[in-house]
Amino acid sequence: QSISLIGVPTDIGAGHRGASMGPEALRVARLGEKLTKRGLQVHDRGNLAGPLNPWQPPTDGYRHLAEVAAWNQAVFTAVQTELTAGHLPIMLGGDHCLAIGSIAAVAAHCRAQGRSLRVLWLDAHSDFNTALATPSGNIHGMPVACLCGNGPKELVEVGGHVPATTPDVFRQIGIRSVDDIEKQLIRDAKVQVFDMRHIDENGMKRTMEEALAGIDANTHLHVSFDVDFLDPTIAPGVGTTVRGGPNYREAQLCMEMIADTGRLGSLDIVELNPAYDKRNQTAKLAVDLVESLFGKSTLIH
Ligand code: ARG
Ligand code: MN
Ligand code: MN
Ligand code: MN
Repeated sequence: QSISLIGVPTDIGAGHRGASMGPEALRVARLGEKLTKRGLQVHDRGNLAGPLNPWQPPTDGYRHLAEVAAWNQAVFTAVQTELTAGHLPIMLGGDHCLAIGSIAAVAAHCRAQGRSLRVLWLDAHSDFNTALATPSGNIHGMPVACLCGNGPKELVEVGGHVPATTPDVFRQIGIRSVDDIEKQLIRDAKVQVFDMRHIDENGMKRTMEEALAGIDANTHLHVSFDVDFLDPTIAPGVGTTVRGGPNYREAQLCMEMIADTGRLGSLDIVELNPAYDKRNQTAKLAVDLVESLFGKSTLIH
């Protein structure tokens, strides 16, 4: 299996500066080397380029819309190139707005190949806001809605196919912060959400069995891993911490069960913010979990 690392150094969609340093923090935590050690062929494509963060207030409900669109066009093209070449792309984020481009490209690839798509959205947040629902205007809170066709033309049309995908492909896991209007949008769209209460009541094992149900040999599995999914006591290096997330063991089991499907086809690692971290511990933790996602386990190499 050939892996392509794609750095997306942007915090354009976030409410805190610093996620733009995420790609380098993941490299410093030796992501590429750890995957190579697992027998994978790793190509680091370096970083994509895009506009700087102008740090402006929202206009018409969006912050930095033109800049977010430009970054996502670059992400879309890069992911499309890697998938076409048969490589498994890993986005080194960067804030979560980059999932618009990456998942639009993955969805287009699935359509072209006649494969079914499943997206596991590991996050404290649903990221299903719109211009009317958002409390912040930050577009990292909107990628799932944009991918489902609910958003500004500039973002909804990034992949050229509208909508890029549909709510039924998503399984959201670890959710514990959803804004008021966003709750209604999530319910109306019938997005399957496994929130922290669900994990508390059923355990991570049962939760993942449910989230992975129906995956077969024809499924392309995309994991969008927002590092704020993790409990902030183990993962302080993110801008938008929300207490009460999965602990280390639960997160490991989640990754191991995804690995066991053998269907992982693409990955975003997003919202890592070294400005809030200490000694790169959150990047190291993310790399540790990604090793499990690629099959590392206690007894089998
Ligand atoms: N729901 C909040 C908002 O829309 C926070 C979103 C956080 N998203 C993220 N990808 N960290 O502003
Ligand atoms: Mn190659
Ligand atoms: Mn989040
Ligand atoms: Mn997110």
